[in-house]
Amino acid sequence: MALLRVVTPLILAVYAYASQSIRSVSGRGVPKVHVESYEVTHKVTGEALPPLDTVYLFDQLIDHNNPALGTFQQRYWVSSQYYQPGGPILLMSGGEGDATELIGYLTNYTITGWLAEKLNGTVVLIEHRFFGESNPYPDLSVESFRVHNLQQSIDDYEYFLKNVHLPIPGGDQLGPDKAPWILFGGSYSGALASYTMYKKPGLFAAGYASSAVVEAIADFWEYYTPIRQYMPQNCSADVQAVIAHVDKVFESGNEAEIQSLKDTFGLSDVAHGGDFAWALASVINTWQSLQFSSGPNTTFFNFCDALEVKDGEIAGPDGWGLEQALAGWGSYYKNGPFLLSTCGSLNSSTLATCFDTYDPNADLFTNITVNNWNRSWYWLLCNELGFSLGGAPQGTPTLASRMLAPEYYERICTNFFPEAFRSPPNMFINADRTNRLYGGWNVTTERLIFLNGLRDPWRETGVAVDGSTNLGSDLNPHLLGDGYHATDMSIIDGDVNPSVRAVQLKALQYFSQWLSEWKPSA
Ligand SMILES: *[C@@H]1O[C@H](CO)[C@@H](O)[C@H](O)[C@H]1NC(C)=O
Ligand SMILES: *[C@@H]1O[C@H](CO)[C@@H](O)[C@H](O)[C@H]1NC(C)=O
Ligand SMILES: *[C@@H]1O[C@H](CO)[C@@H](O)[C@H](O)[C@H]1NC(C)=O
Ligand SMILES: *[C@@H]1O[C@H](CO)[C@@H](O)[C@H](O)[C@H]1NC(C)=O
Ligand SMILES: *[C@@H]1O[C@H](CO)[C@@H](O)[C@H](O)[C@H]1NC(C)=O
Ligand SMILES: *[C@@H]1O[C@H](CO)[C@@H](O)[C@H](O)[C@H]1NC(C)=O
Ligand SMILES: *[C@@H]1O[C@H](CO)[C@@H](O)[C@H](O)[C@H]1NC(C)=O
Ligand SMILES: *[C@@H]1O[C@H](CO)[C@@H](O)[C@H](O)[C@H]1NC(C)=O
Repeated sequence: MALLRVVTPLILAVYAYASQSIRSVSGRGVPKVHVESYEVTHKVTGEALPPLDTVYLFDQLIDHNNPALGTFQQRYWVSSQYYQPGGPILLMSGGEGDATELIGYLTNYTITGWLAEKLNGTVVLIEHRFFGESNPYPDLSVESFRVHNLQQSIDDYEYFLKNVHLPIPGGDQLGPDKAPWILFGGSYSGALASYTMYKKPGLFAAGYASSAVVEAIADFWEYYTPIRQYMPQNCSADVQAVIAHVDKVFESGNEAEIQSLKDTFGLSDVAHGGDFAWALASVINTWQSLQFSSGPNTTFFNFCDALEVKDGEIAGPDGWGLEQALAGWGSYYKNGPFLLSTCGSLNSSTLATCFDTYDPNADLFTNITVNNWNRSWYWLLCNELGFSLGGAPQGTPTLASRMLAPEYYERICTNFFPEAFRSPPNMFINADRTNRLYGGWNVTTERLIFLNGLRDPWRETGVAVDGSTNLGSDLNPHLLGDGYHATDMSIIDGDVNPSVRAVQLKALQYFSQWLSEWKPSA
């Protein structure tokens, strides 16, 4: 019996807005589905099962290079609602954030639960080390982060698969040599799925990597390319006009003009050009939280309405032009709910603090209490992934100011982690190393499905990059739908968009085939 109901279609406002500030350069991965009730019964037997939010703890090695350091407790969650002995284990990787936000992935409103139902599988959701309450050490200091890197997280999966006793019938007999495990991830955790299967061939029977940001890119200005292409064209033209003007004014160095520009947006006290540019980019970045199921009343489309609708009249494809666009954007920021939800106030000095990344003594940088995803995420960005979202090169249309460039983010790294970076890290060198180690967008891993969406701002970090020479194969399918970021992980979005449902069904077909061929090795 279905006791679960999805009450809000996907991303809750709180997550959408969380991706506005500097605290979340890239937002948090996969669509969130809100679960109203955690009570479940087994689909076939009707037997009551533990509630979905039951937390299980796994003794994970603190340091895979030095097991003598002992273990910490890594959280995981399990649903055996659809399980029949012999069925696969679908492991959902928690990625960057508190994994309690992903309990919806145990239900059939998401890809993992939906496939579990069709394949008689068990879903396991595991929290990533240093996120949520799965912490090797009791704080997020640089000293503790010694064991926070991609390789440790990859090794976590192997140790988990080989040692966990799942709380389901026969759960101590489900090692990867006895039962087929399928690894799932979206966005960063999608990349981690690819890295893991690349480094540990044969561990997982199959994998599902949605909007996987497999290629580490330091200067990731292409983030704005799919947005520019798929957003309303009038709004795109007007945003480009405003940003070109902003860059021109800041380049001119004319203090009076710069101040008057900041005043237009109610950001009078934001001291640095880069932070001002980030404050403007924040509203564009809400594109990342869009899904088909989120409907038209979203920050992004409301923002475009504010720019494009004047006295009840809608601009043509070229927009209204600079003057009206500045006025529309300015008053949307000054009066609208956007900055209020992002920073909790429209007071200009509060906004200045909210967007300030230049004060190394700010709480944002000094607070090392656990379960602070922005700090744990930045550590990965600063050391291994890069992903600076910024302005396009001169001569290429841009939605983001050119004041946003790798140096802007590298400086933030030194503010977050002064003990680690006496001088700013070089994100280009780091990204190259990561791509050499984990294969980037050139991997051809067998039984790993890559899924991407045309509207996804992260598309260019994935195998669906424009002009790719790696086109996939039947053993490493590259599926491309019309979706946004990791949209194919949402079954609700498959319900409303046929191209999304098509890739979901295709994935089902591949997994059914591969599982029928899978044999235990022990
Ligand atoms: C989800 O599972 C319930 C039973 O557990 C079933 O009634 C419902 O039809 C399923 N939904 C989908 C979309 O498959
Ligand atoms: C799932 O289990 C049912 C028995 O409950 C069986 O009829 C069905 O064939 C199984 N499906 C798969 C894909 O193994
Ligand atoms: C113009 O902007 C409005 C409001 O955002 C949008 O609904 C419309 O589709 C846009 N039209 C064009 C041609 O871009
Ligand atoms: C749009 O969403 C906001 C916030 O969820 C809500 O307050 C508002 O009433 C909605 N507007 C419309 C026209 O539905
Ligand atoms: C904004 O807040 C600051 C600090 O709380 C206060 O001193 C200032 O008067 C406020 N400004 C306005 C315009 O309300
Ligand atoms: C980190 O980000 C969250 C929002 O995701 C925010 O609530 C929190 O205050 C941030 N932490 C710090 C120390 O700024
Ligand atoms: C530090 O962060 C923790 C967790 O994010 C939060 O509960 C606490 O209030 C923060 N402390 C300060 C001084 O901001
Ligand atoms: C990897 O893929 C990219 C993008 O398709 C391509 O430009 C590059 O030549 C490839 N590198 C190798 C070593 O195949």
